Amino acid sequence: MASYLHFYEPRGIRVARAMGQYVWDEEGRRYLDAYTGHGVAFLGHRHPRIVSALVEALGSVMVAPPSVAGRWMEELLEALEPVLPPGLDHVTLLNSGTEAVELALKIARRVTGRKNIVYFSGSFHGRTMGALSVTSSNPGYRRGYEPLVPGTVRARYNSVEDLEKVITEETAAAIVEPVQGEGGVNPASPEFMRELRRLCSEKGCLLIADEVQTGFGRTGKTWAIEHYGVTPDILTAGKAIGGGFPVSMVAVPAWVAEKLPHGFHGSTYGGNPMAMKAVAAAARVLVEEEVPRQASVKGARLMRLLGEVLSGARPVRRIKGMGLMVGVELRFPPGRVLRCLQEEKQILALKAGSTVVRLLPPYLVTQQDVEEMARGVADCVHRVYGG
Ligand SMILES: Cc1ncc(COP(=O)(O)O)c(C=O)c1O
Repeated sequence: MASYLHFYEPRGIRVARAMGQYVWDEEGRRYLDAYTGHGVAFLGHRHPRIVSALVEALGSVMVAPPSVAGRWMEELLEALEPVLPPGLDHVTLLNSGTEAVELALKIARRVTGRKNIVYFSGSFHGRTMGALSVTSSNPGYRRGYEPLVPGTVRARYNSVEDLEKVITEETAAAIVEPVQGEGGVNPASPEFMRELRRLCSEKGCLLIADEVQTGFGRTGKTWAIEHYGVTPDILTAGKAIGGGFPVSMVAVPAWVAEKLPHGFHGSTYGGNPMAMKAVAAAARVLVEEEVPRQASVKGARLMRLLGEVLSGARPVRRIKGMGLMVGVELRFPPGRVLRCLQEEKQILALKAGSTVVRLLPPYLVTQQDVEEMARGVADCVHRVYGG
């Protein structure tokens, strides 16, 4: 038998089935899923409307690139209309978050004719060479791959002071996560985002909002940038947007789209019928089931409850996040707490930064699920570290 080349450490369970906010292992044990495949299953596992859209595509056409697309393309554009940020109504689909970031970086250089890309400490934008060049959440991700793409300039996340220094007439773009995911669930400060937007406009560079993790309702708004009243020039999205189907998206305004000729970019699988059907269905679910509002209410409840059950717990530094993107920052690496959650509480969660337990549950979690998550984290923190 061949060997699977694991890039992530196996977690010690084998999932057999999944539905809504739960997964079941091969022994039939049920887990509450706040891991959601790195945040992908935000609309829940196998949402019936996503499944039926995919079944429909399977029954008609699986392979047809955008150059020969049929009615599923109009269906996509129509469904996205109420979902896209104002003015960013030119979209293209790709296959992964990192690929969307690569395209965003290319667009920025193409449109401005400049080279430099500003990025921030704690950032995560993907693992391919361009995206890695603007990623700094973990030095280990970059080590051994230098020289990366030249022309990148790092500044401190949430430092308004740094922005003035790094954004210049030579900057093609600044790329930012409104809430850093992988870097530790760190929301940007409103002043930082506002100043970043202002300086990008003043210096003529493009603002790229990387909403691969924060987008599609996760933070309590359709896009996290809405919390800041800021509109980017390029938006990247992924994870949740296909309701579980692997797909990513780049959205730009008309004035950017006009500068991108045919042949400028390409992707064999980008914009395939399955992806378009999945994103269209997911966008309709987002609007009709008021997903952002639900994420906002449930996320606030989860954060409040975590604050109560962990109040005075010495191993906990703080609780942070936005909507259903929640981090419990510990004074220690979170591995043992994550293991306890999985093995003792049957809750799947994931790590962020070096000390954060990250919870990325689907929007359809119930009050009981929220309580289970908060109590589970508190019990595990106490069990592992005492105090
Ligand atoms: C903000 C952000 N950008 C880009 C990526 C890369 O996405 P993918 O793993 O789909 O390439 C991620 C993945 O976690 C992410 O969180």
